[in-house]
Amino acid sequence: MNGLLKGKRALIMGVADKHSIAWGIAQAMHRAGARLAFTFQHEPKGRIERNVRKLLSELGNPEDFPLIACDVASDDDIENAFRISAEALGGLDTLVHAIAYANREDLNRPFSEISRDGYKMAMEISAYSLNAVARVAAPLMEQAGGGSIMTLTYNAAEKAVPGYSAMAPAKAALEAGVRYLAVELGPRKIRVNAISAGPVRTLSASAVKGITLLRRWTETASPLRANVTLEDIGNTAVFLASDMSRMVTGNTIFVDSGTSVLGSQVAALPTPDADAG
Ligand SMILES: NC(=O)c1ccc[n+]([C@@H]2O[C@H](COP(=O)([O-])OP(=O)(O)OC[C@H]3O[C@@H](n4cnc5c(N)ncnc54)[C@H](O)[C@@H]3O)[C@@H](O)[C@H]2O)c1
Repeated sequence: MNGLLKGKRALIMGVADKHSIAWGIAQAMHRAGARLAFTFQHEPKGRIERNVRKLLSELGNPEDFPLIACDVASDDDIENAFRISAEALGGLDTLVHAIAYANREDLNRPFSEISRDGYKMAMEISAYSLNAVARVAAPLMEQAGGGSIMTLTYNAAEKAVPGYSAMAPAKAALEAGVRYLAVELGPRKIRVNAISAGPVRTLSASAVKGITLLRRWTETASPLRANVTLEDIGNTAVFLASDMSRMVTGNTIFVDSGTSVLGSQVAALPTPDADAG
């Protein structure tokens, strides 16, 4: 994929550490020749900023990668981050939104007991934030003759997955948002898609009870019998950012070893040959 994104300028939102899906995407886009800027979530101890600065030195001279604090709950932060990154990169062609948050207790309690505030919080940070960033990205992408916006989702938007509680309706709203934004922004040549990833061990995923089981299940029962890697997700993100996906918009693309097509766990049963043995 060398050179597939040459000339493209991308803003990556959501790197927390080296396990982050956003970091897998950043590495793949960098290999494909894109110029990158990053936002990070500011927190009092500055841990995320330190992590991201360290990671950037793996890509090259950290000064070549604008890095801006941005909390997606703040419209001022968002305006500021897009202005600085577009100035530094000379425009914007691609946006990666890999951000989600729900209180740990709202992920783990029964669905009917999710608190009102916890539900709102998950919705605001994990779903509404795509609207908030797309609104600011769109005029910049229009100036560039079009662009590609992508977000990260999970199949709990469509199917009930134990342990996903408050995040499930947020992902359903996010996927609906992808379709509505695609329809609205398509005439301006801006494409909007979601990548629905299989379970990956990340900081956020550690709050989901059962992630280990989900990964084991993917290994044994998914059509491809393997867990997805950051590289697998990153490569699909490169496709979505590139002109190869010129006519792809409004979609949720599954990078999940095929798990989402299973109607039951029957694939995990021994084959007749194995039975005979
Ligand atoms: N890990 C998985 O199994 C999996 C599977 C499918 C989809 N996803 C999705 O991928 C995306 C990235 O998550 P991840 O698994 O890489 O975990 P992660 O913890 O590495 O990334 C989540 C990011 O969201 C950021 N964030 C949270 N609240 C924020 C706020 N208010 N403002 C700005 N940033 C904020 C965090 O700082 C972090 O960088 C999420 O949307 C997640 O739901 C993850």
